[in-house]
Amino acid sequence: MAFPQTRMRRLRRSTVLREMVAETSIGVKDLVAPLFVCEGIDDPRPVPSMPGVVQHTLGSLVKEARQLCDLGVPALVLFGLPVHKDAEGSQAWAPDGIVQVALAALRQELGSEMVLIADLCLDEYTDHGHCGLLDDRGEVANDPTLALYARVALAQARAGADIVAPSGMMDGQVAAVRAALDGDGRTEVGILAYSAKFASALYGPFRDAVDVTIAGGGNRRGYQQDPRNTREAVREAELDVAEGADMVMVKPAMAYLDIIASVRQAVRVPVAAYHVSGEYAMVKAAAERGWLDGAAVALEHLGAIKRAGADMVLTYFAAEVAEILGQ
Ligand code: PBG
Repeated sequence: MAFPQTRMRRLRRSTVLREMVAETSIGVKDLVAPLFVCEGIDDPRPVPSMPGVVQHTLGSLVKEARQLCDLGVPALVLFGLPVHKDAEGSQAWAPDGIVQVALAALRQELGSEMVLIADLCLDEYTDHGHCGLLDDRGEVANDPTLALYARVALAQARAGADIVAPSGMMDGQVAAVRAALDGDGRTEVGILAYSAKFASALYGPFRDAVDVTIAGGGNRRGYQQDPRNTREAVREAELDVAEGADMVMVKPAMAYLDIIASVRQAVRVPVAAYHVSGEYAMVKAAAERGWLDGAAVALEHLGAIKRAGADMVLTYFAAEVAEILGQ
């Protein structure tokens, strides 16, 4: 007996049918909003390569966080721009450093309504723009940097961070941060590890946003991951979980969906993906020219990242997408 012709289109006939059989979804609760706070400015400063993104004053930061919270976005990740940079990046752990002051202000406004994640790195704070301390040969020194990350973690935890997110790709950074937090009785503070962070050209607009230039036209290939490697990314994630990471991250997202899927298979902790500045800028730039529908592409990107296996997405589209999803 002949089989009836398979009709895939039966379940595509209407919006409700499609909703009924959808395998994945993107929702407001999947979004994490990256925000920038800048010391010593009186008005928010737009970031030209990231339309809609600004370097915030303390006041405008708290206001935007409140709006995100009211839209239902559950979490933000905070980056700071200090006035003063030095070789060690000491403003990253100064108790009155801009991120610490901002975390306290956000905590006061939001209580426990929003999860406060602090990006934990040194590049915004060092005068050479690297994510760690330089040794005499000008190389980023791993273990001396860990001691500084430990200080930053404590400063951020004391200022009110729920979660710290080490993003410097030093070996042992998760273990060092966990030990520092536990040693200070901060066992409740979580770690979101930037586990598979690739040495990507897609971070360009972010470096505008945080005023970072890597000294001598350098790059981060000595510590961030080679974009050609999958197994290495899985190892990074497994190591971070073993060191005590509560969540792991893959970054960037769209060119690394296969990595997200592999990491999802390998670990049992939540997996985050970072839809980075360059991914945002490409969509915005094309949309500004009328070459594509920016909001539709944003939703498609975020949906694809979820489908690949991410549990949450860090995205500069958070507010825009939350508004669309809430309509
Ligand atoms: C480093 C850091 C970077 C980003 C997040 N944390 C930049 C880098 O590694 O040079 C990039 C995020 C983005 O491009 O949106 N602290």
